[in-house]
Amino acid sequence: MVGERDEQCAGPSGLTLIVTAQLKIKNSKSKTAVPSRWRKEVQSVLITEAQIARRIKTLAREIERDFHGHEMVVVALLNGTVVFLADLIRQLNLPLRLDFIGVSSYGLGTESGNLVFTKELRLDVRGRDVLLVDDILDTGGTLSRVLPKLRKLQPRCIKVCVLLDKKERRVEKIEADYVGFTIPNEFVVGYGLDYGERYRNLPYVGLLRTEILPGTES
Ligand code: PRP
Repeated sequence: MVGERDEQCAGPSGLTLIVTAQLKIKNSKSKTAVPSRWRKEVQSVLITEAQIARRIKTLAREIERDFHGHEMVVVALLNGTVVFLADLIRQLNLPLRLDFIGVSSYGLGTESGNLVFTKELRLDVRGRDVLLVDDILDTGGTLSRVLPKLRKLQPRCIKVCVLLDKKERRVEKIEADYVGFTIPNEFVVGYGLDYGERYRNLPYVGLLRTEILPGTES
């Protein structure tokens, strides 16, 4: 990631990590139909279940190559990551340990609020290779707070994997090492991502109807 340098998580060949080719999602007017149950709230499907599944397999192969032969700890940020995480780790054919950091902006709307840590890491990551997993990299505010905390625990290296990267919104100088999809600056829900704690269970990434966004509460 950009910012303070970590030692590279390298594969057995010693080659440094090659940043994954990123898939850019540009067109928010996907032709994929929104399932009828959600049509009143979800305007369109931005990334389908099948696209996500295919991309995760590719990401997993890249991560396996880079982490092979090292003590791997997957650290996931709660809550939005759980769906992506569950699919990603089941594609990783590597021994790994798994732990969570709870962090939330506690905002019900579309803007990040103040960050609150709700769960600390319990596993010892000293000397280990950490894969930090999050659902979306937006302003970078969350990772800019979490990464220094993790570095203090002295892992051998830290690599960041996000499903979605909303580059246009970045405020902090943070980039992920593995990105599923680069998306436009639109508010997305589903596949773990919420609006007012709802919509996390949609199996795809979608766009909400504009009339849903203002003033909605869980
Ligand atoms: C979301 C998301 C990321 C963060 C990204 O978390 O899960 O962790 O925002 O935004 P940033 O780059 O602007 O910091 P949120 O605080 O909404 O909590 P959640 O994971 O429980 O939905």
